[in-house]
Amino acid sequence: MEISALNFPHTTSVVSRKQFDDHVTLYQGYVTMTNETDKTLATQPEYETASPTGGHFRGWKKTETYAIDGVILHELYFQNLGSQTTAPGPKMQGIFGKYYGGFDKWKDDFTATAKSARGWVILAYEQRTATCRNVLMDLHDEGQILSMYPLIILDMYEHAYFLDYGTDKATYISRFLSNLPWDVIEKRAVLL
Ligand SMILES: [Fe+2]
Repeated sequence: MEISALNFPHTTSVVSRKQFDDHVTLYQGYVTMTNETDKTLATQPEYETASPTGGHFRGWKKTETYAIDGVILHELYFQNLGSQTTAPGPKMQGIFGKYYGGFDKWKDDFTATAKSARGWVILAYEQRTATCRNVLMDLHDEGQILSMYPLIILDMYEHAYFLDYGTDKATYISRFLSNLPWDVIEKRAVLL
């Protein structure tokens, strides 16, 4: 079944409209690629040449996870790209306190993780170890833990901020953190 891109109007104060709209266009490309991948694998899989070395089937299977993760990660990111400066809700305050010793300590770890990432940083609850972690992902499909549940997602690819911030990624990270829409995050945390 084909998927459709979600609509994301520019409402954030973290990045400019031009930066944001270009990023949404890139996201729409992942939606298109997901549909193209699904169609190709359904109609012309070419099973007989499947190989771990490379080739048609392996290439599309690798594209499948990369494209779908590209869709999901960007949607979660755009949804938590805010313009509010309210404080974390009680659920998230509890999470920061329990797993990091407070909001400021979590922010220090999240910021360091973001500065170290080539792709994504995600605050996630991880079920096997029953803890919250700031997870570093260098690619859409590299670095995640299978049983993690995402709470806060930041895109650290240069295409996310370079137009507005250049090499000053510290300011981008700081503005992202000070504009988080805590009502959105609190709803994500409702299951924890
Ligand atoms: Fe991105």
